[in-house]
Amino acid sequence: MAASKLLVSDIASVVDHVPSNYVRPVSDRPKMSEVQTSGDSIPLIDLHDLHGPNRADIINQFAHACSSCGFFQIKNHGVPEETIKKMMNAAREFFRQSESERVKHYSADTKKTTRLSTSFNVSKEKVSNWRDFLRLHCYPIEDFINEWPSTPISFREVTAEYATSVRALVLTLLEAISESLGLAKDRVSNTLGKHGQHMAINYYPRCPQPELTYGLPGHKDANLITVLLQDEVSGLQVFKDGKWIAFNPVPNTFIVNLGDQMQVISNDKYKSVLHRAVVNTDKERISIPTFYCPSEDAVISPAQELINEEEDSPAIYRNFTYAEYFEKFWDTAFDTESCIDSFKASTA
Ligand code: OGA
Ligand code: NI
Repeated sequence: MAASKLLVSDIASVVDHVPSNYVRPVSDRPKMSEVQTSGDSIPLIDLHDLHGPNRADIINQFAHACSSCGFFQIKNHGVPEETIKKMMNAAREFFRQSESERVKHYSADTKKTTRLSTSFNVSKEKVSNWRDFLRLHCYPIEDFINEWPSTPISFREVTAEYATSVRALVLTLLEAISESLGLAKDRVSNTLGKHGQHMAINYYPRCPQPELTYGLPGHKDANLITVLLQDEVSGLQVFKDGKWIAFNPVPNTFIVNLGDQMQVISNDKYKSVLHRAVVNTDKERISIPTFYCPSEDAVISPAQELINEEEDSPAIYRNFTYAEYFEKFWDTAFDTESCIDSFKASTA
């Protein structure tokens, strides 16, 4: 019986309608007819020249992309095509395994550093999402690799190679973003303690009634910066200028979005962006976000250089540890679009 299944992949394969716990109220549905396609509205930054004489120009592009949109695409990013291909294949193979093989990794405990789960936070949310996900901590790799799934057989090796390569890219992006804020290039990186890197493999099964539900409802990412790899199936949408905009995936580019920690560190100069994922009747979809984040013990606050009490730019957020933030993030279960408001400095 569908209701006794843990994962939506195993429900999707036997139903011809969306079970009631996945159905959104009429006021909160994707309304696909109102969604625009991205066209040129999302900036594309070519990293090829970042370390050459045109660096200043590229840093300007970062400043523009981060302040106007908070969402951009990157090409010539340095992660080898082969590494990307192998990661996508390993992800696909993982989700093609039998139900009994997959559920071995299942857990609803949001504190577990390696786990397969479904929806977002099944113990807190009211309506479920049409998504399963494998979530892995991956920095430092040696602390976590032995917890990762050992099937498919190449999974650990391929994921380690991918995570290492994406981390190098993120460090480059952080330097550019730091400079684009007028800060020293290692400034943002230095606020992250020992650094953290999480990865999700999102699996969105085909859905008989995609207009009634979400893969992921509108949310902002809790971490610092997200680098998203996706297959050739559309589904990601970004909220920009009051409208939802859909992306058609472009091969060999990543989508980058800023998360809540970047908003805090930049003291609202850059904003975390609202985005969501929709599903479709024809094709399953896989996306692989890398969530780069502070280590749990890192104390996060707006960068001192960006605060000026006299000029009316006081610190908008109080100090907090990333552990405190991250716990709150899972607890809110996307009921609010962002949990950042509860970390604002008191304005007594
Ligand atoms: C996420 C996310 C988008 C996608 O996992 O936080 O926003 O396209 N994913 O899967
Ligand atoms: Ni997200």
